Amino acid sequence: MHTQQVQEFLAEAANHTREQAMMEGLSRAAARNIFLGGSLFFFVVFVALTAHSHWYIVTQSTDHAGLTESVKHGKEVWEEHSCINCHTLLGEGAYFGPELGNVWVRYGGPDSPEGARAGIKAWMQIQPTGIPGRRQMPNFDLTDAELDALVDFFEWMSRINTQGWPPHVAG
Ligand code: HEC
Repeated sequence: MHTQQVQEFLAEAANHTREQAMMEGLSRAAARNIFLGGSLFFFVVFVALTAHSHWYIVTQSTDHAGLTESVKHGKEVWEEHSCINCHTLLGEGAYFGPELGNVWVRYGGPDSPEGARAGIKAWMQIQPTGIPGRRQMPNFDLTDAELDALVDFFEWMSRINTQGWPPHVAG
């Protein structure tokens, strides 16, 4: 008799808990509002972050003012000859040749702009070196104006704030 009473009491308590849970559970409207509100909230966050990234790239991490016609022309020459098939720019591209995002710095551009310009141009003009066992770069027969534009492009690239990347000057 005593056990039965306990069992009844427990069964009733369980029922009560179930009913309460159903009452406290989400109604359809509340679930929909949470879904729509949540979606809207994260959409707004997404738009804000995208706008911030754009603002940061254009005004903070790149030299927008220094984006001259020659720099743009240099990028065109770069694309026309598919230099990216062998080289990387800021890590993007192929790994056959050296990274060129920092080639301007590697040639001492910040200290001696004239020397770096002459050095990079001469390098491209004397290719291929034909040194046995060394990877070769083709000669692209570029004009002096094209070479200057490429160097302007490299110089501009070197001013992108990459937050210390690549960690080694050899890139
Ligand atoms: C077929 C592959 C290939 C292509 C395409 C190529 N390069 Fe190269 N480049 C190389 C290799 C390999 C080296 C390194 C050669 C060496 O060290 O002797 C090199 C080196 C260089 C260097 C010297 C880098 C340094 O740190 O000394 C510059 C500058 C350069 N390339 C610019 C260009 C440009 C600009 C283009 C496009 C017009 C281009 N390369 C296309 C293979 C290529």
